[in-house]
Amino acid sequence: MDYEKLMEKAKEASTKAYCKYSDFPVGACILTKDGNAYTGCNFENASYGLSICAERSAAGAAIVNGERLFKAVAIYSPKMENCIPCGACRQVLSEFEAPEGTDIITYTQNGLRIYKLSELLPEGFKLVLD
Ligand code: THU
Repeated sequence: MDYEKLMEKAKEASTKAYCKYSDFPVGACILTKDGNAYTGCNFENASYGLSICAERSAAGAAIVNGERLFKAVAIYSPKMENCIPCGACRQVLSEFEAPEGTDIITYTQNGLRIYKLSELLPEGFKLVLD
């Protein structure tokens, strides 16, 4: 699936956002290494801190379908150009980074912008137990 199509799916997912507190809808679509796409949207809570971002919602959808390697993640908000994942989502996505890396795709009026997750989160936490 090409990244334009992935962004279309993220955009569609943003229309399902439950964001009555922030009025800031976000949609995300994850493309896995196997070539499957999983969408998510943010869903907020009356206890604000319990709100879930679109990226983590999409990650859950991918994981429950047995996917573990994320090739790309498209993120879209109608409220903002270049809507880029928050720090918490960067860490969560890094858990499932494909060996070739994970592309983070954002929308701008001048076209899609592509980052590497490793560029947005250079020193992600990895648990090493001895
Ligand atoms: N949000 C996301 O879903 N993804 C992002 O990348 C940034 C922020 C959500 C969280 C909250 O529901 C709303 O946007 C405003 O912060």
